[in-house]
Amino acid sequence: MYLNDLGILYNQIILPRKKKFNQPVRSDSAGIRFATPEIVAQYRARRLKCRKLADISCGIGGQTIFFAKECEMVYAIEIDPKKIEYAKENCRQYGVDNVEFICADALSKDAIDQIPEVDIIFSDPARPATEDKRNIMNLEPAIPNVIAAYSHKTHDFAFEAPPQLTPEKIPFDCEREYLSLDGKLNRLTLYFGNLKRSDRSAVALPTGARINSDEKKIRLPEVNEPGSYAYEPEPSVIKADLLDQLIEEMQKQGTDVKWMDIDKKRILLTSDIHTQHPMIKNHYIVMHTTDMDTKNINTFLKKYDVESVILRAGVEPANYWPIRNEIENGLTGTRKVHIFVKDNKAIICEPV
Ligand SMILES: C[S@@+](CC[C@H](N)C(=O)[O-])C[C@H]1O[C@@H](n2cnc3c(N)ncnc32)[C@H](O)[C@@H]1O
Repeated sequence: MYLNDLGILYNQIILPRKKKFNQPVRSDSAGIRFATPEIVAQYRARRLKCRKLADISCGIGGQTIFFAKECEMVYAIEIDPKKIEYAKENCRQYGVDNVEFICADALSKDAIDQIPEVDIIFSDPARPATEDKRNIMNLEPAIPNVIAAYSHKTHDFAFEAPPQLTPEKIPFDCEREYLSLDGKLNRLTLYFGNLKRSDRSAVALPTGARINSDEKKIRLPEVNEPGSYAYEPEPSVIKADLLDQLIEEMQKQGTDVKWMDIDKKRILLTSDIHTQHPMIKNHYIVMHTTDMDTKNINTFLKKYDVESVILRAGVEPANYWPIRNEIENGLTGTRKVHIFVKDNKAIICEPV
């Protein structure tokens, strides 16, 4: 337990320097779990740089800190008194002092009255702890209520939403920006008013690569057999439904890239000439395509000096290791391969 300089007793967790933040931050376990990772907070703060911004559900301040570094003045509202104390301390730890903290329900008259006209209202709302399927209307505070309550302060709003939601599940006139971090889908941010730049967009961090949707919807040809190379796109591109545009960009660079639906969860791009793009997270050389016959695959892998296999297939979890063990049986080589399975065909790929 920890007593701060205001005399408030905390169940304190001091987090060492590690992935989410570069400096130690104070939080309870829920606060840190839902806090925005520093690299994402920095990216978003740069995109939302303005004079005055209100972060109306600030939690432990993970995002607020970086708004304060980019904006002249930040107003931070939080309903939970413990979390707002953590937010104050975390802002202090990061050396920012241009934040006015308000502990209140962001939708209450008291809180709204304390916020002046601002350039941008941002909210990263709480999500229900248990929910079978994420629903954009179940966030707290709810997006339509925030817009109704604050539309006399600004028309430029940004909200964080659950990234599992596909673009058509967002029934608002806004930009849906899917962000992946280190190759994994991490955030969805919705931008309203003048902040909207396109219907959908995809960003990949740490590179900062970005794709925006065009008005026109194109469908580029799908193939069933891979070429000599295969590529895994960033998940933010897939979630934002921007694969066509990624392929078009890659084709403009001079390589004939096609796409292959592997299974419900996986998509590969493929070409005969090796190419690169910052929205590609993994590159492979296609070694062989064959029937999904574990014995034959094992014989092939022994011949080509393979040591281990990562099976990238839509198999039942209970079947994953039995199949993988059969494929890897007796391998003594040095190479590591990934096997994608499409329509009962195994596509054996080596990372390049
Ligand atoms: C996902 S967390 C915010 C995390 C924060 N962006 C960060 O990086 O640390 C959502 C926060 O919204 C707060 N909240 C929920 N309803 C609220 C309301 N009506 N007014 C103000 N805050 C609210 C919750 O207490 C919670 O701390």
